[in-house]
Amino acid sequence: MLVSACGAPGTAALLRALRSNGERDVRLVGTDMAELAIGRHLCDAFHLVPAGSDPGFADAIREVCRREGVDAILPQSSFDLEGLAGERDRFEGIAVLVSSPDTIRRSNDKAESYALLHRIGVRAPRFLRVNGANEVAEAAAELGYPERPVCFKPVFSSGSRGFRVLDPTVDRAHQLLHERPGSVAMRLEEAVELLPGSGGPDLLVMELATGKERTVDGIADGERILLGHPKTREAMRAGLAMYFETLDDPGLMETASRIVAEFGIEHFFNIQLVGEHVIEINPRISTVVYQEDLNLPYLGVKHALGELSPDELAALASRVRPSRRALRYFEQIEWDETP
Ligand SMILES: Nc1ncnc2c1ncn2[C@@H]1O[C@H](COP(=O)(O)OP(=O)(O)O)[C@@H](O)[C@H]1O
Ligand SMILES: [Mg+2]
Repeated sequence: MLVSACGAPGTAALLRALRSNGERDVRLVGTDMAELAIGRHLCDAFHLVPAGSDPGFADAIREVCRREGVDAILPQSSFDLEGLAGERDRFEGIAVLVSSPDTIRRSNDKAESYALLHRIGVRAPRFLRVNGANEVAEAAAELGYPERPVCFKPVFSSGSRGFRVLDPTVDRAHQLLHERPGSVAMRLEEAVELLPGSGGPDLLVMELATGKERTVDGIADGERILLGHPKTREAMRAGLAMYFETLDDPGLMETASRIVAEFGIEHFFNIQLVGEHVIEINPRISTVVYQEDLNLPYLGVKHALGELSPDELAALASRVRPSRRALRYFEQIEWDETP
């Protein structure tokens, strides 16, 4: 099994789960664009590859597959999806756990995602797609700033990169002296000062959703959710959630099912909400809450390999335990670099 972006935060737990599947020995092949990826130490083989956005990415992965005899590819990073999706039919005999190019494009582009969600009656933030400081200021005003805080982020990003809240009441002195670096709140004037007047990446200026963060995570077949569950997303540190509580919420599953059907999502997905607003659709694996009787990544790979039918996968839904919790923490390893 090839696991891409094997420096991503959930990698160690993911690799452990794939290995301890209770059924067979697996050979794990990690790829990443950086040497300092934990997968380099935890996989049986590791290969440096170009960034997912590089036009040569899919070819590089194909070459790794050829050399290592890979049977299944599990992409972890949003950046790896588009390149793989475009070529997924050219990996003969290999299960590539990625949705169609169209699905990837519509989920990666948040303006398109939100427009589609509005169309099917799923709550998503009001938004304007703009470019440059002047249009950001106009869009913010249109969405109610300064009476109401708003937020913005690049149309395509990941890991909270580029996300900022525009809040006229923000206490910058307090941030400076008492908060950890990396606070996301600023005043509109500050953002306008930093952004180019026009040009730069397309930005989404949005209604600021409020409330607890939740996601629905699971495995789909392009039409329906085969297996999955909602969970909370808590204890944020540097844009990453560190604590998760499994939820039993049929309403949320129903919303996620409509999204999966409308976007045609296949294999792993992660649908993200803030309060009642859906703010992101990730057609890839995200943080998994593991259970000793429910190894989601391994089951998803088996399904992709045709070893498990959709109905067999769906029959495992009753195993999801709402009492289940996951806490992430920092670990480290040491090694001697050989010249
Ligand atoms: N409209 C919004 N209202 C409130 N919070 C938001 C909104 N959009 C994004 N966020 C916050 O920013 C984080 C990153 O945004 P997200 O859309 O998940 O992009 P990505 O994960 O690709 O960086 C989210 O986890 C959420 O905390
Ligand atoms: Mg996100």
